[in-house]
Amino acid sequence: MVVNHRSVALLRRVLLLLLFSVAASPASWWQRGLGWWGAMAVGVHWGASSSSSHPLPPSLVVPWLLKANGVSRVKLPDADPSALASLAGSDIGVAIGIPNEMLRSLSSSKSAAASWVHDNVTRYLTGNGGGVRIEFVVIGDEPFLLSYGQTFQPFVVGAATNVQRALAAVNLANKMKVIVPCSSDVYQSESNLPSKGHFRPDLNRTMIELLSFLNKYRSPFVIDINPILSFQQNKNFSLDYFLFETNSHPLSDGPHKYKNYFDMSMDTLVSALSKVGYEDMDIVVGKIGWPTDGAMNATPAIAQSFMHGLINHLQSKAGSPLRPKRPPKETYIFSLLDEDQRSIKAGGYERHWGIFTFDGQAKYNLDLGQGSKVLANAHDVEYLAQKWCVVNNNKEMSNVSSNALEACSDADCSALSPGGSCSGIDWPGNVSYAFNSFFQLHDQSADSCDFGGLGLITTVDPTVGDCRYTITLRTSSSTSILEKQVSWWNVIRGLNLIVVFLLFVGC
Ligand SMILES: *[C@@H]1O[C@H](CO)[C@@H](O)[C@H](O)[C@H]1NC(C)=O
Ligand SMILES: *[C@@H]1O[C@H](CO)[C@@H](O)[C@H](O)[C@H]1NC(C)=O
Ligand SMILES: *[C@@H]1O[C@H](CO)[C@@H](O)[C@H](O)[C@H]1NC(C)=O
Ligand SMILES: *[C@@H]1O[C@H](CO)[C@@H](O)[C@H](O)[C@H]1NC(C)=O
Ligand SMILES: *[C@@H]1O[C@H](CO)[C@@H](O)[C@H](O)[C@H]1NC(C)=O
Repeated sequence: MVVNHRSVALLRRVLLLLLFSVAASPASWWQRGLGWWGAMAVGVHWGASSSSSHPLPPSLVVPWLLKANGVSRVKLPDADPSALASLAGSDIGVAIGIPNEMLRSLSSSKSAAASWVHDNVTRYLTGNGGGVRIEFVVIGDEPFLLSYGQTFQPFVVGAATNVQRALAAVNLANKMKVIVPCSSDVYQSESNLPSKGHFRPDLNRTMIELLSFLNKYRSPFVIDINPILSFQQNKNFSLDYFLFETNSHPLSDGPHKYKNYFDMSMDTLVSALSKVGYEDMDIVVGKIGWPTDGAMNATPAIAQSFMHGLINHLQSKAGSPLRPKRPPKETYIFSLLDEDQRSIKAGGYERHWGIFTFDGQAKYNLDLGQGSKVLANAHDVEYLAQKWCVVNNNKEMSNVSSNALEACSDADCSALSPGGSCSGIDWPGNVSYAFNSFFQLHDQSADSCDFGGLGLITTVDPTVGDCRYTITLRTSSSTSILEKQVSWWNVIRGLNLIVVFLLFVGC
């Protein structure tokens, strides 16, 4: 009997040890990242809930858009509690962002960095199915963007250093890496030649500090690439060149031929890194994508060509002329969903980056990790009623355009921009588009379709061709229904526990 007990205890201890060593093996995620299989190194950027008026709930995004499509890694712009809660137990690798506005305090205060780590990392690592698999902490959102000037630049490396220390203090430094996403205007080159690549002169000191920080902790350099902006700004290259088309005219640079814009960008960065002594640093693409509306050449068909070209190129593992057979270590596609409240300073297309529409329906097909299957859409999406707001043709309409303009200052009218899907809609159809957008933004409240008596609520869908007059998502009310169900469930579970306890005591 005694021997038996002892051997059982021993066995249990061995099993526990085994389990523990598997769970705690450090750096296992980075080795996974090294896996040769291309599709695995592709992730998606999932935008902030504050960039959408009616964000698709994380409880739908994670199972349908991420898990059902085999997405293996995701990047978040901030530590959104409900997104992180939904990602717990999913085994999806997560990169958590820190907004630019927080960099100053994180760089000046070690304790601010420690509490950020405590609140937004440590807390999510345990619990539900093993918690959230956090792989990266992302310092800022393109803080070196030329147009930001010195707003964030002086605080970036300090914030990264303090966060790194805070992670080390709680033994997490070997579980995740601290990275800084750089916009592609951090480097430049003369006459577009990759071999002439160098970092922007005003960044010279900061960039050296950043690179030495990254090198010390074996973290990759993260670059965000915006090909449609480059296409608009640089008339020297054809659209085909950006879309990885094989028939496009290559660029010659010494012994090297550049067949697409992507390789050109990568090697311009490689040259810039080499010039300051970091030629071997790993590269991760933090954002890359193509929008589908709101500008010329922003269509689902062109976006699909771009994505196919990109994914095929990454999966081929061909790399670039300066780094043959060494493609970026990871690439995050920008973006998962359309976001109707993003700033449109750069163009109307900013609100149409999604592979999926705002309500989680795929715009085109693409291999995100699901292989040859068609992309899964979100299920169980809850919409508001089938109601639209249009202009009332029976009223005197001389003042209607100013009303429309006012509606568009809050609501999303980016599809009306030149080249957009509704740019061909004549007056007053375009006014109806603006009215409806405002009406949906305000959850179809009757007074949001007033417009001085010029608005009219209708149940007839005004959609014309590709110009879709959307109905928005039901958000707040649906969560309150869920909460009610959850609380009843807790009561039932509580009763069960009492019954079990009574039975147990009775025995
Ligand atoms: C955690 O992250 C959230 C979202 O970015 C932020 O609002 C909050 O201030 C962070 N917590 C700390 C202690 O910094
Ligand atoms: C475009 O090409 C022309 C002629 O080859 C060259 O002079 C010009 O500098 C190029 N533009 C850019 C932005 O490189
Ligand atoms: C760094 O940039 C500053 C400002 O642009 C310049 O004055 C300085 O000479 C540069 N230093 C180096 C080493 O390039
Ligand atoms: C049009 O707007 C002007 C100024 O806001 C106002 O005085 C006028 O009454 C309006 N006309 C109609 C028909 O609503
Ligand atoms: C609608 O179209 C008319 C005529 O083309 C134009 O003047 C007006 O600015 C447009 N309104 C909106 C909201 O796009």
